[in-house]
Amino acid sequence: MNDFNIISRDIINSLNKTKRDRRLRKNKNIIKLVSEVNLNINNFIYPLFIKRFGENEEISSMKGIFRISIDNLLKEVNECLNLGIRNFILFGVEDRKDKFGKYAYDQDSIVVKSIDLLKKEFKDDILLFADVCLCEYTDSGHCGVVDINNYVDNDLTLGLLGKAAVAYAQAGVDFVAPSSNMDFQVAYIRKLLDKLGYYNVGIMAYSAKFNSVFYSPFREAADSAPKFGDRSSYQISPLSPKQAINRILKDIEEGADIVMVKPALAYLDIIYQAKQLIKTPLAAYNVSGEYAMIKNVSNFIDEEKLILEILLSIKRSGADIIISYFTKSLPYLIQKYL
Ligand code: PBG
Repeated sequence: MNDFNIISRDIINSLNKTKRDRRLRKNKNIIKLVSEVNLNINNFIYPLFIKRFGENEEISSMKGIFRISIDNLLKEVNECLNLGIRNFILFGVEDRKDKFGKYAYDQDSIVVKSIDLLKKEFKDDILLFADVCLCEYTDSGHCGVVDINNYVDNDLTLGLLGKAAVAYAQAGVDFVAPSSNMDFQVAYIRKLLDKLGYYNVGIMAYSAKFNSVFYSPFREAADSAPKFGDRSSYQISPLSPKQAINRILKDIEEGADIVMVKPALAYLDIIYQAKQLIKTPLAAYNVSGEYAMIKNVSNFIDEEKLILEILLSIKRSGADIIISYFTKSLPYLIQKYL
């Protein structure tokens, strides 16, 4: 034992101790001074599920997130504004479904009405994004129109996505967010908007959108699960990261103003790679399953710290913008911990 003590001491004394990393961790102030990432509410977009009438209802797979009745929408957004949240993405929860997803673009569409209502009230105090997809509106639950072989018809769907994009633009949306994974959806919508004079309406493209089980709670929330089959003939396989990177580059060429990786957490590699390659703003969608997962472990892990650590990982990977159901807790969490 004596031998051990002598040997140990000799080694410790012989180490080159000029550089001590722990100087930069001595107290909270120095830790904050050298911090390289941060979370800022300005970079967050809050998703809103909007229903036609009735009371707000909590989504059972997403505790703390509600389907907001259109009658309560102004109140909800006011509450967010008071928290410093100004960016929103809208999803309609629609019970009137048909083959062509008519209520995605009809003048009686929940999203059209919501945009109209919100923009009349809040004007440029809020930045509004509208998801452009058919899955909440088709009786098949697919993101496009299915043909007799139950295959989603790409080019027929494009026309309907275009109708939705134009309806939202007309109602005053700031950005449309095509999310149905149809080929050429960005090029087509950009050209259409430009031709109709909506050149100031931007496109946030769901570019690297993977075929993921993490969307399950969303599909309950928006009643948008496919009635048969799955989305593997249009969403990107998790086995094929190059397709995702390619799609990001192509969407930028096709005119996307913001490109997105979705989901975020299981695809941090894609966020990181995209960040190195592009100069276009990069968004990451911290999706419903990521939200639900955190909510379900909070009996065992400190939920507040878990949320922050996960959001920081998304930021560190390279996301400029984060779409997250945690946005409403963020002002409090930032104030408390960062
Ligand atoms: C519409 C759409 C989906 C999500 C956003 N837009 C569902 C899907 O593609 O199945 C998922 C968002 C989330 O899980 O939070 N296509």
